[in-house]
Order: sequence, then C-alpha cells, then structure tokens
Amino acid sequence: ALHKYPMKVSWAQDGVFGTFDRAQLQRGFQVYKEVCAACHGLERIAFRNLTDIGFSEPEVKAIAKAYDVPSIDEKTGEASTRKGVASDYFPSPYANEVMARAANNNALPPDLSLITKARNDGTNYLHSLLVGYGKPPAGHEVPQGLHYNPYFANINIAMPAPLTSEGQVTYAEGQPKPTVDQMSRDVTAFLAWAAEPKAEVRKRTGVAVVFFLLILTFLSYLAYRRVWADLK
Ligand code: HEM
Repeated sequence: ALHKYPMKVSWAQDGVFGTFDRAQLQRGFQVYKEVCAACHGLERIAFRNLTDIGFSEPEVKAIAKAYDVPSIDEKTGEASTRKGVASDYFPSPYANEVMARAANNNALPPDLSLITKARNDGTNYLHSLLVGYGKPPAGHEVPQGLHYNPYFANINIAMPAPLTSEGQVTYAEGQPKPTVDQMSRDVTAFLAWAAEPKAEVRKRTGVAVVFFLLILTFLSYLAYRRVWADLK
C-alpha cells in the first residue's frame, strides 16, 4: 500500500504575512522537552535562541541550567558533564548513533532541528504523523517492533505513538486544553520555528523589498515621462 499525503493544516505562520504564535511555540517547546527529547536531539538550537520565542533571559538561563551538557576537562581531557548555560546547544539524548540504535530496537530517531524541512510538506507531515497512528486495516501485517502509521513513507514506523493521551503535558493556566491534537500542533509549530528561526525576518524583508520596488517603479515612470516630455 502507498502512504497517505499529509493533511492540510492551517498554521499561524502560514503565508507572506504569517507570524508564529509565541504562546504556541512555548507550549510546543514544553512538549518537545517533556516528550520528544527522550529520544530526539535538537542539536542546532541553542538555549539562548529561546529568547526568540518569548522566553526572558533569566528564564533561558534557568532552562539551560536544568540540562547536563557534555564537557571535557581542559587539563585531563576527561569527559564529564556540567550544567548548561545559555550559549550551549541542546544536548542530544544519546552519545552516538550506536547508543541511539541500541535503545530503539535498531531504529534511529533523527535529530529534529531540521525535520520540517527534511520531509515534503514537512509541517503538515509532522502533525499528520503524530496524530496518524491507528489500527491497521484488515489484512495489513505490522512487523514485530513496528507501529502502523499511514503517513510514514514505510507505513510501519519504529517510533511508538509519542502523544497518546490528553493531559500528557500540563499546560500553564489560560492555555488551550492539552489534547493529543493540540500537543501535536504545538510541537509541530515549535519544530517549524526551530527549522527556520529567521523565517519572520525573511518574510518581513521580502515585503519591504517588494514595497520599495513598487515605489521605485512608480518614480522611474514619472522620471521617464519628464525626461522624454519634449520628444515626440
Ligand atoms: C522517528 C518526531 C517522540 C523514537 C521520528 C520522526 C519524526 C519524529 C518526525 C521521523 C519520521 C520520518 O522519518 O519521516 C517525534 C516527535 C516526538 C517524538 C515530534 C514527540 C512528540 C519520540 C520518542 C521516541 C521516538 C519519545 C522513543 C521512545 C523514534 C524512532 C524513530 C523516530 C525510533 C525512527 C523511526 C523509523 O525510522 O522507523 N520521530 N518523535 N520518538 N522517533 Fe520520534
């Protein structure tokens, strides 16, 4: 059987004028941290990047401090860990690929920093994948250790459904109910931000450039009229 194409989801950041929903990104970070980070790294994001999604510097420092990051003693060359600081990048859950596979039935959980760019229609795909687990249709045999997910290219995926029950993550007061669908949208938005933290700057610049070119076109038209005014 062929896999399904992603569902079309509407995202706050869609379109030329779309911007990320900061509260959603913060909830999504919470889902990543409390659920996905057990198996997936986010190695291209530094703690200090979280100020982009609305965390204050003291908050970022506190988040970083709660992580143990790998460290090598300058004198002895011995490997150990120390508490994270704002300039550290997110530490990966496994020391290397061998350890990662050993813990996951020989499958490899990819780093999630660029995942929404690494798949076709990646943002819609990620949400579809997360909510897309279910019972296989009659006659579909799921191999031992794999899970049925029609959105996954291979249909059978090594990752067990990571989001399974409402309230798996506790959101702050005033935030939407943490249903599976909501948590999935939130972590997906967060990972879309992580894959292109400067997306908003890029769009804003594009809009300014087009606006500038429109004015320039109009001015050059006026100049053209004036320059050629006395020539018929
Ligand atoms: C694969 C996301 C939690 C283990 C993946 C993939 C994504 C993903 C996007 C790649 C799918 C593809 O190749 O197209 C997430 C998110 C999570 C989460 C957003 C949290 C909500 C977990 C957890 C575990 C895990 C908790 C470990 C218990 C794996 C494994 C694979 C994988 C082993 C490789 C699957 C395969 O190649 O068959 N995950 N994941 N994931 N994930 Fe997760």
